[in-house]
Amino acid sequence: MIAAPNGTAISITGLGCHVPERVVTNDDLAQLVDTSDEWIRTRTGIRERRFAAQEEALSDLALPAARAALRQAGVEGSSLDLVIVATVTPDMVFPSTAALLADQLGARDAAAYDLSAGCTGFMYALAQAFGMIAGGLAEKALVVGGDVLSKVIDLTDRSTCVLFGDGAGAAVIERVEDGGFLGFELGADGAGGVDLSLPAGGSRRPATADTVARGEHYVHMNGRQVFKFATRVLVSSAQSILDRCGLSVDDVDVYVPHQANVRIIDHAVAKLGIPEDRVVVNVDRYGNTSSASIPLALADAVAEGRVHRGDTVLMTGMGAGLTWGSTILRWTER
Ligand code: ACO
Repeated sequence: MIAAPNGTAISITGLGCHVPERVVTNDDLAQLVDTSDEWIRTRTGIRERRFAAQEEALSDLALPAARAALRQAGVEGSSLDLVIVATVTPDMVFPSTAALLADQLGARDAAAYDLSAGCTGFMYALAQAFGMIAGGLAEKALVVGGDVLSKVIDLTDRSTCVLFGDGAGAAVIERVEDGGFLGFELGADGAGGVDLSLPAGGSRRPATADTVARGEHYVHMNGRQVFKFATRVLVSSAQSILDRCGLSVDDVDVYVPHQANVRIIDHAVAKLGIPEDRVVVNVDRYGNTSSASIPLALADAVAEGRVHRGDTVLMTGMGAGLTWGSTILRWTER
């Protein structure tokens, strides 16, 4: 648990999002694999998702999201001193997408790096930006959560290809007068990592014609195990951060869980006892966008007028690693 030291007010001052234009419906996927709109809707809650165009990479989605966040915060790209991109689908292994993005934004003096924590990446990156600002290592940070999972899913595997979509969300993080992040709770269980992996292309199994032939450059998932893990940690991580911040579920005005599957969200909501009108759900329109899922859902809630200054916002992510993470934020957006 990272707690905000007394008197430290650090928050999101600008939020931006971008999704690719192409909408892929469940019926579209039923043309590719043996599935149906009915199966996908009832098992996952997903109706449609966005897929990037062939030439579109993560930085193409991250740039408009970042520009929108900077605009809202009234911050120039050139004044950023930290850029973190949370992703498992960078433009390439290196250079980092963060470095490419910093260059595009004119953030010449910024430290820039990518962070790999699966779908929890945005939570981890927020915590890092918070910690670096609190510790005096940075003043103005840009945190991006973005993924282009459509490029790494096997469109012949019905057990994975129906779940994911593409998108990016960005947040400007800086000191504010009051409110902001109350704390973070982060964790990882590498022993469970095998349940959700992209096996080839790293130093363990470098990409070869054979790894490609075996489809090891695609997402591999043990759906039932991940489902069990997800339902457990969404609840335990949220309870743990609420306890440590001295808050109860009744104090939560807006709950933004990772958008993987509506059944996982429903389970967490029932266990935690959060009233449904405080829960943000947009997995029906975007599918699981991995690192982008929480910022996209948060931005939707803001756009719908559901988040007000001073509201207590609880966000919890979980994903590949296996990882999880939560934060509680007193909303301060300008
Ligand atoms: N269409 C039709 N049938 C399907 C499909 C599909 N798209 N996918 C699987 N099935 C079949 C299976 O083959 C199986 O058939 P069988 O009984 O003949 O073997 C049957 O449906 C039931 O399969 P289950 O795996 O038991 O289905 P379940 O209800 O568990 O739902 C799902 C599967 C949706 C994948 C679920 O396990 C899940 O959501 N898991 C978590 C996935 C997840 O969230 N991953 C990412 C989280 S972390 C991150 O975001 C990176």
